[in-house]
Amino acid sequence: MDLYEYQAKHLFGKHGVPVTAGEVCSTADAAREATRKIGSAVVVKAQVKVGGRGKAGGVKLADTPDDAADKAAAILGMDIKGHTVYRVLVTEASDIAEEYYVSFLLDRANRAFLAMASVAGGVDIEEVAATRPDELAMIRVDALDGCTPEKAQEIVEAAGFPEAAKAQIARILEQLWRVLVEEDATLVEVNPLVLTPTGTVLALDGKVTLDDNAHYRHASHADFVDRDNTDPIELRAKEFDLNYVKLHGEVGIVGNGAGLVMSTLDVVAYAGEEFGGIKPANFLDIGGGASAGVMANGLDIVLNDPEVEAVFVNVFGGITSCDAVADGIVQAMTMLAERGEPVTKPIVCRIDGNNAVEGRRILTEAEHDLIELVDTMDDAARRVAELAAARKAGKQG
Ligand SMILES: Nc1ncnc2c1ncn2[C@@H]1O[C@H](COP(=O)(O)OP(=O)(O)OP(=O)(O)O)[C@@H](O)[C@H]1O
Ligand SMILES: [Mg+2]
Repeated sequence: MDLYEYQAKHLFGKHGVPVTAGEVCSTADAAREATRKIGSAVVVKAQVKVGGRGKAGGVKLADTPDDAADKAAAILGMDIKGHTVYRVLVTEASDIAEEYYVSFLLDRANRAFLAMASVAGGVDIEEVAATRPDELAMIRVDALDGCTPEKAQEIVEAAGFPEAAKAQIARILEQLWRVLVEEDATLVEVNPLVLTPTGTVLALDGKVTLDDNAHYRHASHADFVDRDNTDPIELRAKEFDLNYVKLHGEVGIVGNGAGLVMSTLDVVAYAGEEFGGIKPANFLDIGGGASAGVMANGLDIVLNDPEVEAVFVNVFGGITSCDAVADGIVQAMTMLAERGEPVTKPIVCRIDGNNAVEGRRILTEAEHDLIELVDTMDDAARRVAELAAARKAGKQG
């Protein structure tokens, strides 16, 4: 999960990295109030998870509270590279003598971490990396040793930071390393890290990517989940702990195993071409040992997507045998009816693999009007596309 600048800076502050005081605001009035509290000139910064905000007009200096309100009004609602601005960070404006760049990132290929540092920081570090690579120091950081004081020293020397700033930057590097390790991040970046005319080093921007696999170790990171920019169905799926990704088609997909689900998306998209461009509506992998409850939650999520016209349940029984999955489907239909959400959309099932015959028998005997069994994956994809197209046409006609 990528964090917003204000969230990254919150983690910086927690680990001692010097940042400017600031407040995140979602209205112009709040920006005025925040500026009054800060009591100096401020910078109003669009909070979007994309670089180049400054160049896009999303970072503006404001001298007074009223000025800050005007700047916030202009920035809020702006579209920056496809990202809508819902919030701005109002933060103390800093005098800047020099702008530097520092980062730590996971270097998977080398099974290590990489520290990058440059005296040529600011808005165009990508350009520095591409055209003047000698100005970007890259130092390997061993995962077990970490960023020791010696390593931090090596980085500041390699980057060629000015003598007066070296000690401060070395300390900041050690603190940023703690952000990376203690918060389970895969990227920690500061651009710009500035030197003020009075000789203080400050992080004026921050970018942090957290490792989602470590989410369970950090209860406090739940606050970072982005509710404004996440699809509401995806949010619900997350609450059910499901592997769900919203797409924009008409056929809801439920499958077990990521590989099977990926190929299901392909066959549905292919079959859908014949029916006027019917497409899969989502990716949903309910996993290997899917219980009836998980199947019910999966169907619940998929059926409640207003774009979905028909559902394709594609199961290959492995460790969980097909009879258990079929029981799951039947129980799921009952559970949904009991929840007051009876199923109204057709469901095409293809069940194969371990104990498939028994699984199919259970579904046939359930005699559910909306469940249709099809033997092969291709035929099932064609059938579900046909059903989805018919229901869609029915709505339009
Ligand atoms: N608090 C501040 N005080 C003074 N100037 C600032 C402040 N914050 C940002 N700036 C200036 O605005 C520029 C752009 O800001 P920032 O790096 O935060 O956003 P950005 O353009 O999105 O950067 P990136 O592309 O790295 O995401 C900085 O390089 C700096 O010159
Ligand atoms: Mg920046």
